[in-house]
Amino acid sequence: MKFFIDTANLEQIREAYEMGVLDGVTTNPSLMAKEGIKGLENQRKHYIDICNIVQADVSAEVISTDYEGMIREGEELAALNPHIVVKVPCIADGIRAIKYFTQKGIRTNCTLVFSTGQALLAAKAGATYVSPFVGRLDDISEDGIALVGQIVDMYRYYGYTTQVLAASIRSTRHIIQCVEVGADVATCPLSAIKGLLKHPLTDSGLQKFLEDYKSING
Ligand code: G3P
Repeated sequence: MKFFIDTANLEQIREAYEMGVLDGVTTNPSLMAKEGIKGLENQRKHYIDICNIVQADVSAEVISTDYEGMIREGEELAALNPHIVVKVPCIADGIRAIKYFTQKGIRTNCTLVFSTGQALLAAKAGATYVSPFVGRLDDISEDGIALVGQIVDMYRYYGYTTQVLAASIRSTRHIIQCVEVGADVATCPLSAIKGLLKHPLTDSGLQKFLEDYKSING
């Protein structure tokens, strides 16, 4: 399973990249605003900075909600760097725009997906990735992981090549659950990725190795 980090924070992206297990980055307008990236020029430069750090897929989201605006923005974003993936919300004009981008060879990430029906439309339009939001479904007592599994099964049954990019991941447990249902990608906070490393038996076992070595070798 691929790991993307879900942030626009360059320090966290660098730290995740240096872990040696990072496969990409997803951003969204809220994450960009959180970093205080203001204005078109600064946003474009920031996306290029992220691409230069990871040299892997970086999702950059359009802010337009109309077809013409999405097309204009998406083509500008795609032209910034070969690693840019144009992120488009799952609305009528977004699906139409994804179809256009597919025909132009521009890779896309259909975001704000909360149902198998939406995921089906994204795949039919040729989206490169589909982003079901696990955490936000869990937040309203629905089963986000179950949706990921349903989408994975649907795509496999029909042979769609759209990759299931589980998003809105809130915990290390969510990552493991995404593995269990066969998600292609999980886009996570750095803390969730780092949580995969933690096990007390590893720590105690290493401590014992070091103590036993020291008892003989000083
Ligand atoms: O970036 C898309 C998604 O990962 C957002 O997650 O935590 O805002 O629900 P969250």
